[in-house]
Amino acid sequence: MRDLRGVVLAGGSGSRLYPLTKTTNKHLLPVGSKPMVYYPIESLVSAGILDILVVTGVHHFGALVAQLGSGAEFGCRFTYKVQDRAGGIAEALGLAEDFAHGGRVAVVLGDNVFDAPLRPHLDRWHESGKGAMILLARVPDPQRFGVPRFDGERIVEVVEKPPEPPSPFAVTGVYFYDSAIYDIIRTLRPSTRGELEISEVNTRYIARGQMHWAELGGRWTDAGTMESYARAQALGTRL
Ligand code: G1P
Repeated sequence: MRDLRGVVLAGGSGSRLYPLTKTTNKHLLPVGSKPMVYYPIESLVSAGILDILVVTGVHHFGALVAQLGSGAEFGCRFTYKVQDRAGGIAEALGLAEDFAHGGRVAVVLGDNVFDAPLRPHLDRWHESGKGAMILLARVPDPQRFGVPRFDGERIVEVVEKPPEPPSPFAVTGVYFYDSAIYDIIRTLRPSTRGELEISEVNTRYIARGQMHWAELGGRWTDAGTMESYARAQALGTRL
């Protein structure tokens, strides 16, 4: 899996955490004893993924680079790219094409904090051949997330923030994609909130019959809202 590269998405406006995010990037806020974005980076590095692209917006680019540096502190190598406006997770991921030489990527959203190791999931995905893999977590409030709709054991669709969730699972912000991802992103149209949606990418892989899934395991939370940020801090202090 030496061709596999990592991507950490640390853009967005952080509006749900305002005013904490008035002068700083959400992903630099403290979680336990570290900035939030350290957790997804360390998850990738522990899985042996040492070439990592960090994508962030224009506003706090300097602060993020000042915090993370070259990657030496983490035992990895960072490449940085700027997303000009908050155009969605899938748009940000499109920026990874050159960096990954059009190849496979393991993506982690910069506000996802979890303790399960990624290596076993990566190995399973690798063995399964082509396609993508999403990792699920059972949550009390699935309407806040991308949610899988099941037909038996098979996922038939991922619905973004459904008012009536079709299952009790969140699609976590940990995604593995093969080289088809870039062409898929090019065919996307902005959603009603003006973004290229990652759930749409996942639904395209499902339609091709090339989506694998597993439960992430362990403890997981995002940190995009005040409530989940508090959960992340509680989890972060124990990691
Ligand atoms: C994003 C994705 C959503 C996913 C979540 C995981 O949501 O759009 O599908 O379940 O990350 O953290 P957002 O944090 O942008 O609301």
